[in-house]
Amino acid sequence: MKRILTGLKPTGDLTLGNYIGAIKQMTKMQDEYESYIFVADLHALTVPQNPIELKKRIRAFIAMYIACGIDPKKNTIYIQSDIEYIPSISWILECSTYYGEASRMIQFKEKSKENANFSVGLLTYPVLMAADILYADTDLVPVGIDQKQHVELARDIAIRFNKKYGEIFKVPEPLITKSGTKIKDLKDPTKKMSKSDENPAGVISLFDDIKIIRKKIMSATTDSEMNIIYDEEKKPGISNLINIVVSLTGKSINEVETMFKGKNYGEFKSYVADLVVEVIGNIQEKYNKLVNSKELDSILDEGAKKASALAYKKYQTMREKVGVVR
Ligand code: TYM
Repeated sequence: MKRILTGLKPTGDLTLGNYIGAIKQMTKMQDEYESYIFVADLHALTVPQNPIELKKRIRAFIAMYIACGIDPKKNTIYIQSDIEYIPSISWILECSTYYGEASRMIQFKEKSKENANFSVGLLTYPVLMAADILYADTDLVPVGIDQKQHVELARDIAIRFNKKYGEIFKVPEPLITKSGTKIKDLKDPTKKMSKSDENPAGVISLFDDIKIIRKKIMSATTDSEMNIIYDEEKKPGISNLINIVVSLTGKSINEVETMFKGKNYGEFKSYVADLVVEVIGNIQEKYNKLVNSKELDSILDEGAKKASALAYKKYQTMREKVGVVR
């Protein structure tokens, strides 16, 4: 059975973008693949965090995965920092990664501009991500398009390492949603909907109150025309709303355009709001039952045990191959 694996970084609330870009894809594939999903808490440390908030968020993310339909019986669910050998694997990989390639990552370039005192962790971030992927002999990595470059770096590192030391890693492939959709900010539809955004009006969190979600969609930025047509360049707001509908219903862009021919923006937004509220409402109901349950801890214990055994084995192989053994 082929293996899929993905992680999400607990740096803010989970967003509709995370759901569509990564979690929903995992739920669709969990029957056919051996599935691994984790909370990338070590990655969160690349930017400043409040420890109490972070701890709460890690648990909330796990509960939210399951509420979104990630089935604990079909998935290995864990917290990255519970797998102690991953940072050791990452270190060995760092020594096979060029400074040039790490510093060319788009995310690094953008984030390092935001704060002059950025951490070294921001630079080595994609190598830790490579360790997350490579320890488990992952075949496919479902991610949003913004993470594609990082998965490609993981591939390059694996290929280079294998060439030097023998066939140690499986070379993974990124798996991007059918349309390559990047869900955009509702207020500024030219940029990604991001959980670390300072302007929450444009971001739908899976934890938002239902009434607020409706309000955010109804006040999404559109344009001065009157037609519901997909055109990312001229109509980024409407195109983003169409993308949300397409991703949540499986309808084609064409079908959505036909459904709303001759209708106004208010009617369209109302439809999108109903749809999103229904999806997130159901998720929240399940989440509330789960978040404080003991069940969650046993799921995490089991996940950590299984993933740790794999990581330990891979690390020992790497040690042998590179010669850092007694
Ligand atoms: P993160 O936490 O930024 O995002 C989690 C996932 O959600 C996708 N995503 C989106 N997709 C569509 N539209 C959006 N607006 C949107 N925003 C986010 C992301 O592409 C991602 O798939 N480095 C990773 C976490 C990570 C990881 C890994 C992922 C660590 N190790 C190993 C896969 C495999 C990250 O920060 O994702």
